[in-house]
Amino acid sequence: MTTAGQPRGAHSSQPTSDLYDVINRRRDVRSEFTGEEIPPEVLRRVLGAAHSAPSVGLSQPWDFVLVRDEATRRSFREHVLAERSVFAAELSGERAETFSKIKVEGIVESSIGITVTYDPERGSPDVLGRHAIADAGLYSVCLAIQNLWLSATAEGLGVGWVSFYREDFLRRLLDIPSGVRPVAWLCLGTVKELAQEPDLERHGWRSRLQLDDVVHDGKYRHDFTR
Ligand SMILES: Cc1cc2nc3c(=O)[nH]c(=O)nc-3n(C[C@H](O)[C@H](O)[C@H](O)COP(=O)(O)O)c2cc1C
Repeated sequence: MTTAGQPRGAHSSQPTSDLYDVINRRRDVRSEFTGEEIPPEVLRRVLGAAHSAPSVGLSQPWDFVLVRDEATRRSFREHVLAERSVFAAELSGERAETFSKIKVEGIVESSIGITVTYDPERGSPDVLGRHAIADAGLYSVCLAIQNLWLSATAEGLGVGWVSFYREDFLRRLLDIPSGVRPVAWLCLGTVKELAQEPDLERHGWRSRLQLDDVVHDGKYRHDFTR
């Protein structure tokens, strides 16, 4: 219901400001985790939000592997830090210096790890809408992740997406079948706060673009900054 008591629906002229608020408050979290346990009903709601995402051909090609075990998390963290070094070795000068201050994960400090996977076989061979764009399955998994991220924000939790890993390593670590892709390791947890600006912006790695930089009217403009 809106403040005026009108139901919000497809035809309502009232914006759902609470949704926009959640969208604007959402942050990628690395340093702010406090590591307390998430109440089971809250975790269930967050996973339920992820599982409510749209998916190509209603294939729902995602799975969520909940990782609580500390040894498993430590092992993954070691791998991620090694991959961080691989990336760091590709940088030089100011980029290397700036990156050296950036934390890229909160695997052990978060309350729980959630690996989100993509199974291209789910619902196949006749996945409605995927015959021309194979990646549509992967897009569906990313929508589930975004639902999870926003729901967690609404619950006062933080999420950090970790992609500094080799898929084979994570497959082996979590016993994921060979045809299934681990799309993300999400650090989910209680937080002391959500930062106002992205970490990468705060550290001077990169700034957010203006909306008008990325809106093209009619045809793709080729004169904008990347
Ligand atoms: C596909 C994807 C992979 C990401 N991988 C990492 C990562 O490995 N480590 C990290 O610290 N942040 C990672 N991020 C978070 C981004 O750096 C972050 O979303 C971006 O800087 C904007 O900040 P914000 O999410 O707080 O708005 C990832 C985000 C996405 C969408």
